[in-house]
Amino acid sequence: MDVIQAIKERRSINFFETGQELPDEQLRELVEISNLAPSSFNLQPWKLIVVRNPESKRILRRCAFNQRKIEEAAAVFIIVADPGGVEENLERVLDNWEELGYMKPEARQGYVDMIQNLYGQPNSLKRKFFAIKNASLFAMNLMIAAKGFGLDTHPMDGFDEDSIKREFDIPPDKVIPMIIAVGHLKKGTTLLPRAFRRRFEEFVRLGSY
Ligand SMILES: Cc1cc2nc3c(=O)[nH]c(=O)nc-3n(C[C@H](O)[C@H](O)[C@H](O)COP(=O)(O)O)c2cc1C
Repeated sequence: MDVIQAIKERRSINFFETGQELPDEQLRELVEISNLAPSSFNLQPWKLIVVRNPESKRILRRCAFNQRKIEEAAAVFIIVADPGGVEENLERVLDNWEELGYMKPEARQGYVDMIQNLYGQPNSLKRKFFAIKNASLFAMNLMIAAKGFGLDTHPMDGFDEDSIKREFDIPPDKVIPMIIAVGHLKKGTTLLPRAFRRRFEEFVRLGSY
C-alpha cells in the first residue's frame, strides 16, 4: 500500500476482531519504521509502552472511561512524551552529527545553547510542548505505518492521565498525549462514511493569517 492510500484509508475504528495478537516481530517492524519520524534536533523525546496482556488491557480500559476497544484490540500503545528527552539524547545526537559530518566540533556549544533557549528547563511548559509535538508525530507515523501493514488503529485521549501513570509506572514528569489501539477490523463490520473534513478554503490562508 502506498502512503497516499494509507492516509486515505486510515480510520479510527471502534470494533476490533478479538482474540488477535500483535506478534513481537510485527511490533518491532512497525515501531522501528514509525521511529523514523522527524523530531526537533532529532531528540526523539518519546517512549512507547506496549500493552498486550489481557489483564493490563483491562486496567487500561478502566483508566480510559471504559472504552471497550482497548480490551478488544490486539495491542494498545501508550504514547509517552518525554520532556527529559533533551537531557537523555542531546550528547548522542551531537556526537552522531559530528561523526556524520552534519556539524563541526566548534559548533557544538552553539547547538546546546540554542536547544536550551528553544525548549526551556526540564519542568517548563515549553519543554512539555516540545515533547508533545514530537511524540505526536511519532504517533501519527504509527497509525499510517500500521495501515500499511494491514492493521487498523484508534487514537484516544479520553483517559485519566494520572491513573495511567500510576498503573503503568510512568514517572510524573512525562506526558501522555494519546493512547492508540491497534489490531484488525472486526469481520463483517461496515464503517460509517468518514466524517466531514473542512474545505481547503476554510482553514488555509495564503500568505498570512
Ligand atoms: C488525539 C486524539 C484523541 C482521540 N480520542 C478519542 C477517544 O478518546 N475516543 C474515541 O472514540 N475517539 C477518539 N479519537 C478519534 C477521533 O474521534 C477521530 O480521529 C475523528 O473523529 C476522525 O475520524 P477518523 O480518524 O476515522 O478519520 C481521538 C483522535 C485523536 C487524534
